Amino acid sequence: MVDTLVGFRGQTVPVELGERSYPIYIGGDILPDLGRALACHCGQGRAVLITDANVGPLYASAVVDSLTGVDIKTLMVTAPAGESSKRLAVVETVYEQLFDFAAERSDTVVALGGGVVGDLAGFVAATFKRGLKYVQVPTSLLAMVDSSIGGKTGINHPRGKNMIGAFYQPRMVFADTAVLRTLPDRELGCGLAESVKHAVIQDNEFFAMLEEHAGAILSRQQDVLVDLVVRNCRIKAEVVATDERESGLRGILNFGHTIGHAIETVLAGRDHHHGEAVALGMVAAARLARQHGLLRPEYAERIESLLRTFRLPTALGGDVPVDKLYTAMMQDKKVKAGRINFVLPTSIGSCCFVNDLTEAEIRAAILSLQ
Ligand SMILES: NC(=O)c1ccc[n+]([C@@H]2O[C@H](COP(=O)([O-])OP(=O)(O)OC[C@H]3O[C@@H](n4cnc5c(N)ncnc54)[C@H](O)[C@@H]3O)[C@@H](O)[C@H]2O)c1
Ligand SMILES: [Zn+2]
Repeated sequence: MVDTLVGFRGQTVPVELGERSYPIYIGGDILPDLGRALACHCGQGRAVLITDANVGPLYASAVVDSLTGVDIKTLMVTAPAGESSKRLAVVETVYEQLFDFAAERSDTVVALGGGVVGDLAGFVAATFKRGLKYVQVPTSLLAMVDSSIGGKTGINHPRGKNMIGAFYQPRMVFADTAVLRTLPDRELGCGLAESVKHAVIQDNEFFAMLEEHAGAILSRQQDVLVDLVVRNCRIKAEVVATDERESGLRGILNFGHTIGHAIETVLAGRDHHHGEAVALGMVAAARLARQHGLLRPEYAERIESLLRTFRLPTALGGDVPVDKLYTAMMQDKKVKAGRINFVLPTSIGSCCFVNDLTEAEIRAAILSLQ
């Protein structure tokens, strides 16, 4: 059982991880309740608010007001916006500010931002003085539906993305969908790619909801966004609860990511955002499943069609460097004994692991992205 804030006006999804269990609070315009929730889950220590240069000017004052309202003193730390903040040099400057503030283990790190801030702040929280409490206040759709849940924290190293990190669970996640109004369209699309992923692997009703309410989602209708975030969180929370450290089932969340990561690495110059690369990876995986006799053609078409509705790419356009993409995939950290463990859909709402695909099948699916 996860204890939750009395009188909260939004919805709550529990993440059941024994003594590390925590709630995800979701609603529209709930930021004023953040202070009360933080006091409830983290006690009365001080807060270190970590944000980025885009999100801070928009929402940090609302967060500070809410914390001040329950007598929580706050230090604000602003990192540059963007993936380049997930590196050790930035972590060191954050540590410096925590030392100046004399941060203690009774204090709480609050991550206010997208997945970059969440991963950076989570890593700082996991490591400073062997662990401060932390909470996630995700502000991008991708962070609300994916990166803020599950306790993966980390930064990049020149030799590999997300290679330095720890599993470290927050005390709570607090997602106010009202902040999505200022999220750039392209970033909204990236969160929708992960939503389509969750729906395809686990939940055909959710997939139908995405199809039916696509227009309302794109126009950021709040009640529909709350429903969308709740459904995503339920799926991710359930998978994480079953396999916190990704030794088995959690791997299904890699649907679309095997080819997607290769696209991000090999075609870095074409500037695909993560969600866009995942969309392309899901298209290729659905075609692989269809060719392998696992997925009916009309389901593969529905997946592609929903991605197009969300203005996500379904083709690379131009030359497809099949050799380079195939080689990059074989170097992925998830390849075991030379075999790629693909997550392939078997329907809308179910998937399986497949490791007996031939090189020719995989190459054909990559080439089909032309
Ligand atoms: N820990 C995990 O389990 C996990 C899972 C998936 C992805 N990730 C990581 O998440 C990162 C990607 O996250 P992201 O897509 O949120 O990127 P991001 O944090 O860079 O945010 C995208 C952009 O949107 C801006 N932004 C965020 N919220 C906003 C708002 N409400 N209004 C206006 N602008 C806003 C940010 O400043 C940034 O410029 C990657 O580093 C990836 O590795 C981690
Ligand atoms: Zn992803």
